[in-house]
Amino acid sequence: MHSIAQLRLRAKARLPRLAFDFIDGGAGSEESLRRNQSAFENLALVPRVLRPCRERDLSTRLLGRHYAMPFGVSPMGLCNLAWPGTDRALAAAAAGANIPYGLSTMASTSIEDIARLAPEHTWFQIYLGGDAATADQLLHRAEAAGLRTLVLTVDANFPARRLRDRANGFALPLRPSPALLADLLSHPSWSWAIWRAGVPTFENFRAAQAQQEPIAIGAMLQSLAQAQIDWGVLEQIRQRWRHTLIVKGVMHPQDAVRIAALGVDGIVVSNHGGRQLAAVPSAIEMLPAVRQAVGPHFSLLLDSGVRSGDDIARALAAGANFVLLGRSFLYATAALGAQRGAEAALDILRGELDTAMAQLGASCIADLQPELIFQAASASQPSPGAFS
Ligand SMILES: Cc1cc2nc3c(=O)[nH]c(=O)nc-3n(C[C@H](O)[C@H](O)[C@H](O)COP(=O)(O)O)c2cc1C
Repeated sequence: MHSIAQLRLRAKARLPRLAFDFIDGGAGSEESLRRNQSAFENLALVPRVLRPCRERDLSTRLLGRHYAMPFGVSPMGLCNLAWPGTDRALAAAAAGANIPYGLSTMASTSIEDIARLAPEHTWFQIYLGGDAATADQLLHRAEAAGLRTLVLTVDANFPARRLRDRANGFALPLRPSPALLADLLSHPSWSWAIWRAGVPTFENFRAAQAQQEPIAIGAMLQSLAQAQIDWGVLEQIRQRWRHTLIVKGVMHPQDAVRIAALGVDGIVVSNHGGRQLAAVPSAIEMLPAVRQAVGPHFSLLLDSGVRSGDDIARALAAGANFVLLGRSFLYATAALGAQRGAEAALDILRGELDTAMAQLGASCIADLQPELIFQAASASQPSPGAFS
């Protein structure tokens, strides 16, 4: 397997439709999902020549830390649906490679388990839509487990309309039906692996689950939906969390400016991988405006639609300091199993980014600048100065 696209195809063949669609799908008509991809395809980079780049340094600094590569794993719920052990394998591989790993509130492995594996590299992601006491407990657990970077996701105002999940009747606990049985029987390796490991659940809420009915995914999404959170909540969180705080899911430049002014350390420009609303632009399209609004020194991360090392180079050149990837890692663990998949994804992305840098004449991450971005000369007005 040599690309994330190949891993995706293998994942599609290996997973039952309901699991693959949960991972792969987007909101509504999936325009934003497609747009995330096409926006990267339409962003071309122009190589610089005669710049020595025999040795490339992929390392970078972000929020006071040194990372071996300028990308990490986006926080994702229910990763173990891709393959049992995915959360752990991704956290361990990220720590081994010295890059960050995002652990979701909705993860299928607990805060404590992941923190034991990757205390230095885990960023804990939280939704604040639930009751304040639950949120406070989660923050307390993350802190007690030694985690020092919090990612507050603010773009999940309401449970999304994911049509593939609706068509498949996707629900947790799984709802037995003849269609589900046929889906499972025609994907025996996944079904066997999940049967042995147990259907993944929201491990961070397991204590509550033990006392009540199993938590259904719909109810969970509903309870965490954040339509009621406002700027005051962000101010409180900034006061409460003394360590590094990143806000994820920001697209509007004015929001970015206000968030930065509140003393937040970094922002992830993201449309949640096209999973919340079909009508939104892609994050990579919004990035230049957000960068211009917050200025050159504020830490901007980007996710949504990144599928290759070339895409990572594109995002960095367009103004991001760091890049996160979600589905790319899940395609890999679904295709190859948890550990092999996690390592394969890292190898592919590292190799692609390194090659892209060599071809572009970049010897370090700081060489990936907006000057590399292709500006199409308009047909009516050929502009030889477009690259000056
Ligand atoms: C299966 C899945 C579950 C996700 N769960 C969460 C989550 O719990 N919290 C969150 O902030 N983002 C979540 N996301 C969004 C990712 O963090 C990230 O923004 C998105 O996947 C980036 O787009 P990409 O998949 O195209 O790389 C999820 C994404 C996927 C694919």
